[in-house]
Amino acid sequence: IRVLSVTSELYPLIKTGGLADVTGALPLALKDQGVEVRSFIPGYRSVMSKLENPRVVKTYNNLFGSKAAILADEVAGHKIYVLDCPDFFDRSGGPYLDENGADWEDNWQRFGALSKAAADVALGKLKEWEPQVIHAHDWQSALSLAYVRYANFGNIPRIMTIHNLAFQGRYDAKIFKKLGLPKKAWAMNGVEYYGGIGYMKAGLSSADVITTVSPTYAREIRRPENGMGLDGLINHRENDLYGILNGIDDDVWNPPEDPYITKQYSARNYQMRRQNRFDLETEFGLFHDEDPLFVICSRMTWQKGVDMLLELLDELVPMGAKFAVLGQGDNAIERGFLAASQRHPGRIGVKVGYEEPIAHRMQAGGDAILIPSRFEPCGLTQLYGLRYGCVPVVTRVGGLADTIIDANEASVSLGCATGVQFYPPDPFHLKQAVVRTIKLYNDKTAWKSMQRAGMRSDFSWGRSAARYVDLYRQVIANYDAKKT
Ligand code: ADP
Ligand code: GLC
Repeated sequence: IRVLSVTSELYPLIKTGGLADVTGALPLALKDQGVEVRSFIPGYRSVMSKLENPRVVKTYNNLFGSKAAILADEVAGHKIYVLDCPDFFDRSGGPYLDENGADWEDNWQRFGALSKAAADVALGKLKEWEPQVIHAHDWQSALSLAYVRYANFGNIPRIMTIHNLAFQGRYDAKIFKKLGLPKKAWAMNGVEYYGGIGYMKAGLSSADVITTVSPTYAREIRRPENGMGLDGLINHRENDLYGILNGIDDDVWNPPEDPYITKQYSARNYQMRRQNRFDLETEFGLFHDEDPLFVICSRMTWQKGVDMLLELLDELVPMGAKFAVLGQGDNAIERGFLAASQRHPGRIGVKVGYEEPIAHRMQAGGDAILIPSRFEPCGLTQLYGLRYGCVPVVTRVGGLADTIIDANEASVSLGCATGVQFYPPDPFHLKQAVVRTIKLYNDKTAWKSMQRAGMRSDFSWGRSAARYVDLYRQVIANYDAKKT
């Protein structure tokens, strides 16, 4: 099976969050199951600088008003197509935001161009390769499915994966003309969305099959509270909706061979984590003592619920909790954590920024990882926590509900508890969860059993990749059946 995966992030070329981890790991897992994935990504500066042997396979004189080329290359085990378009992608700042944290004003063009060029590959316009399925990830690439759907020739099956419904790519109706889609695409079951254009909406209505990244999130987005305005459409597509849990790349997140940590360890000798814990305390300017060390490694946004934690820190520190915090996002939240670290030197250590190596060291040295998300499509840091023996403390939502076994009396006595869950996401229940975690931590037998159960659990990609293979087969078969 040949699949074109279209994505705005791919680890290790460009990453702002879990999307990159998934689009960076899934193609490699699919390769083991006989699927050839080629990934289509934007030629951001950081991507262009990592290319090894790029070949031009198609050029454009006018792609959304700019000159562009599609380059083919093979990097870090991935076959990739890169949209080289300096006007749109050769700039400092992030993939979506400028240096001041505002959305790039021309995002509709940047990701429109990405989608249009990816659709060209899907429609067989490259001589060298033709995919059988196009698989788009999140709103940035969603429009590619509309371009394929409304093409006159070369149409192939389309899959849309929702990683986060909160980001939708909504724009004014006046851009419609500039997208180069036929008039009939301006329709309720096309790209039109509440009188404007919705890129995510366009992807969902153009997809043969819709997936999201956990079974619980697949149910949650059918309710108005989590549907973000798209629950109606999603309910309408209920027969085509699948929740497939993300896996983790266990080569990248692998304590026995993790190059970023001081002391490598395995499930058998995880007591060696002590050295990593000590070094993490040093790195974050924390006291060396036996009090439980909570780590937070997260985008600093409302979704992640870290503002609730901020409110509680002054109460939690006197209870014996220590915190190491790494993250970036909303300025007010960042400032709040920095201020808290000044009030509690040695007890709260904070780094604002995005640092892949530190993210690894936090999993290897923390006692517990705190993830108080208000919603969480899947979440990956709890899975890394399990593998690293850093006990997850999470809200019972989305993928967090699907991956963590709460430490209640039964699960602790059976030795299958892997973490602490709480619900609903509010400061009161978060505080209770931290109190409960501190108690469990002080019960050394219970704590060790939780760490061991977590390290035993298997969230590698094999099982989930097999489910994507089934879906690819299914959409191809349906398509062939329709043709004949
Ligand atoms: P989301 O994609 O919603 O941000 P996930 O849990 O799926 O949440 O994935 C987050 C990914 O980003 C993980 O790989 C995590 O380690 C990483 N990450 C988040 N914040 C930081 C940070 N400040 N520095 C380094 N890595 C981070
Ligand atoms: C999104 C979600 C996160 C998920 C990731 C990868 O960023 O917020 O929950 O793990 O995508 O699918």
